Amino acid sequence: MKNTKSHVLHARGLSKSFTLHTQGGAVIPVFDDISFELNAGECLGLHGPSGAGKSTLLRSLYGNYKLDEGEILVLHNKALVDIAKSAYWEINALRRQTLGYVSQFLRVIPRVSTLEVVAEPLLNAGASEDEAHATAAALLERLRIAEHLWSLAPATFSGGEQQRVNIARGFVVNYPILLLDEPTASLDAANRATVVDLINEAKTRGTAVVGIFHDHEVRDAVCDRLFDLARLSADQTASRIAGDEVVA
Ligand SMILES: Nc1ncnc2c1ncn2[C@@H]1O[C@H](COP(=O)(O)OP(=O)(O)OP(=O)(O)O)[C@@H](O)[C@H]1O
Ligand SMILES: [Mg+2]
Repeated sequence: MKNTKSHVLHARGLSKSFTLHTQGGAVIPVFDDISFELNAGECLGLHGPSGAGKSTLLRSLYGNYKLDEGEILVLHNKALVDIAKSAYWEINALRRQTLGYVSQFLRVIPRVSTLEVVAEPLLNAGASEDEAHATAAALLERLRIAEHLWSLAPATFSGGEQQRVNIARGFVVNYPILLLDEPTASLDAANRATVVDLINEAKTRGTAVVGIFHDHEVRDAVCDRLFDLARLSADQTASRIAGDEVVA
């Protein structure tokens, strides 16, 4: 019998299309009727060709996009919260404690030091400044960011350095659910191995992961299951979304 007690995320009937209002209302169907469940400590890999909607699905799980249909139930403070119907402040509370997201590219904030960028989510989650800085420093060290860079803003860092700062920021809080969009895309072998370790350590602590991993070895090393997304044709969803006004 399937144990449903440890499910931390239920995605049910998710459908998403984009309507480009500035381009004659062109409709881009992305995915249709996606469902899956995720247990604590499990890693689900999103798999599919470029343009299949992997990043869009991940951003939808993070509450960045309005879905056409479906619910995303997340276990937050012992209750199930539907991200698809949550107000902005509820999504923010969820992101502080429950839901982490590592985008492919770091959003650089001018004049904020690397140490502060990494420590910020832990401070927001309620940790003391000392604890947040110590945890951030340990992660930066593990990810081989030279210490003389920690006091600088990461704007001038290389692509791989910025990606590692982004990963450190994503792992600084022990989130119950972590969403990862190609976290190893521009990393060398040693840093890739460190990221694999970080993911597997988080899983051992009970973190559920949804991730996109183009690298086969990384995928094999961290994923328990794969979810296949096939690219939709316009015809497949045209009838379903006909007449609907969908705003990204
Ligand atoms: N904000 C947006 N507005 C309009 N269309 C979008 C938007 N984001 C994504 N799309 C479209 O949705 C489709 C899926 O894009 P998405 O980035 O999710 O693909 P992906 O599977 O992550 O691809 P890749 O492997 O190349 O990263 C693409 O056709 C893309 O053009
Ligand atoms: Mg993508």
